[in-house]
Amino acid sequence: MEVSGIEEEEARAEVDIWNYVFGYAKIAVVKCAIELGIADVIENYGSPMPLSELATALRCELSRLHRIMRFMVHYRIFKQEPINQHTVGFSSTPLSRCLIKGGEKSMAAFILFMSSPPWLASWHCLNSRVLETGNNISPFEAANGKDLWSYTETNPYHNEVFNEAMACVARLTVQAIIKGCPEVFDGVKSLVDVGGGINFDLPHVVAVAPKFGSIENVGGDMFMSIPNVDAAFLMWILHDWDDEECIKILKKCREAILEDKGKVIIVEAVLEKDKEVDELGFLGLMLDMAMMVITNKGRERTLKEWSYVLRQSGFTRFNVKPIRAVQFIIEAYP
Ligand SMILES: C[S@@+](CC[C@H](N)C(=O)[O-])C[C@H]1O[C@@H](n2cnc3c(N)ncnc32)[C@H](O)[C@@H]1O
Repeated sequence: MEVSGIEEEEARAEVDIWNYVFGYAKIAVVKCAIELGIADVIENYGSPMPLSELATALRCELSRLHRIMRFMVHYRIFKQEPINQHTVGFSSTPLSRCLIKGGEKSMAAFILFMSSPPWLASWHCLNSRVLETGNNISPFEAANGKDLWSYTETNPYHNEVFNEAMACVARLTVQAIIKGCPEVFDGVKSLVDVGGGINFDLPHVVAVAPKFGSIENVGGDMFMSIPNVDAAFLMWILHDWDDEECIKILKKCREAILEDKGKVIIVEAVLEKDKEVDELGFLGLMLDMAMMVITNKGRERTLKEWSYVLRQSGFTRFNVKPIRAVQFIIEAYP
């Protein structure tokens, strides 16, 4: 590499390293904004909102709120727009709408889970998980004394935080499926949403799940048996488990669907697929780190790794379709 190239790289590193030093600051500020309800109040105001009115509405100390808002304007979470010659106000952006609780594009519940103390504590135990001599349990369990599923079972508050987090991402992913790949449900008359939080999940999850029309809420264990249907739907399930466990779950799905016209619909990241190297490329790898932290043996998979678990579970063919999300749709047939 030429000297100027090396110097440029070093200069870049001197800047980049500060992003790591303060990597947590962005999620901490965004969490604070969600808890205060900043995005909700600005959206409801309907026109650029002056700081003084925002502070009054939120019952916040003006100069500290100003600093929080200055940070978020810098990161383009909110915009500043003129109200008149002398005053500016804050306006919503597509990004700030992701912070509105219960909003159409809300990621608020997911951010609150990802910034919750049990989750953050887990990341401190990542190194010992990687060492050969390290823990044989997930960083989540090392930090919190129980694996995620036992932890949520015995902590109703975190059960709710976790389920709401999953539900908020699920809403966005399902919208992306319906928009980008609606044909996936063609001809499907009955479907089981394995680990879907409502339709078929662990008994303690189903016990607090809402009821929707004719949808049956079934508590059970996907390693034991899955209700008979045309299609088994598994969104963000298999990445929680290692290959052996995935094969067990997939074999149960295969037993549950019809041999001739049944299928399994998997919604998961596929590492190294073309789409992954551009816009959302970083996200598959982030999720893979998250899986290492939260699960005992879970992982994100490449196409080759998906092919292995599907063939080992007795599926003879599968196809992979992209959607506007980190996940792809994998349709697998007996
Ligand atoms: C990562 S969440 C995904 C939830 C949902 N599919 C979604 O995309 O929002 C994994 C789900 O699997 C459920 N789960 C874990 N072990 C299970 C088991 N043995 N049987 C059925 N569901 C299980 C959890 O309760 C949780 O709801």
